[in-house]
Amino acid sequence: KVLDIAVLVGSLRKDSLNRKTAFALADLAPASIKLSQVEIGQLSMYNQDLDEAPPAEWIAFRQRIKAADGVLFVSPEYNRSVPAALKNAIDIGSRPYGQSAWQGKPGGVVTVSPGAIGGFGANHHLRQMLTFLDVHPLQQPEAYLGNAGKWFGEDGKLQDESARKFLQTFVNAYAAWVQRLASTAR
Ligand code: FNR
Repeated sequence: KVLDIAVLVGSLRKDSLNRKTAFALADLAPASIKLSQVEIGQLSMYNQDLDEAPPAEWIAFRQRIKAADGVLFVSPEYNRSVPAALKNAIDIGSRPYGQSAWQGKPGGVVTVSPGAIGGFGANHHLRQMLTFLDVHPLQQPEAYLGNAGKWFGEDGKLQDESARKFLQTFVNAYAAWVQRLASTAR
């Protein structure tokens, strides 16, 4: 079985480096996994009052995450933390109480920045949430990807060779991790 991986990109902008990185990872992924981006920009802000009659897009998002064999977060860092759009999606997926869509999923965290620190702060704030949500992220290799501003060509394709090498190593390790957890899944 090809394992179905839901990829959440933390940036909503058209020319997002993170979205391009997510596409590059999908291209490089081994045949054992398929990476599909799941949109989060259409999700209205989480409000507990809506739990009794949730918006259709919340229901569809929760179902999509529940169906996935694994999740992969590819996100920028905003003010040393996780962008609000991604936090919102995570909160929506975590509710109603006791029915979290995240429960037990194998995971992965990639942060991408044009800056030097590679989104370390966002990466670890995300990991703090994943611990609570019982998502099991790949621990090594870590992926704090800095200086990504010149990685992509006009066509949006990855043109930086050392970045490509690292992303290949990462996605291979991620595929092996998801397969390992899937083989022991309840
Ligand atoms: C940023 N940026 C940023 N970069 C970083 O490395 N650490 C940070 O804390 C922040 N903070 C931050 C806050 C806000 C509100 C914005 C809009 C941007 C810069 C950010 O890394 C840059 O805009 C990236 O290009 C965003 O990722 P995408 O959209 O290219 O995927």
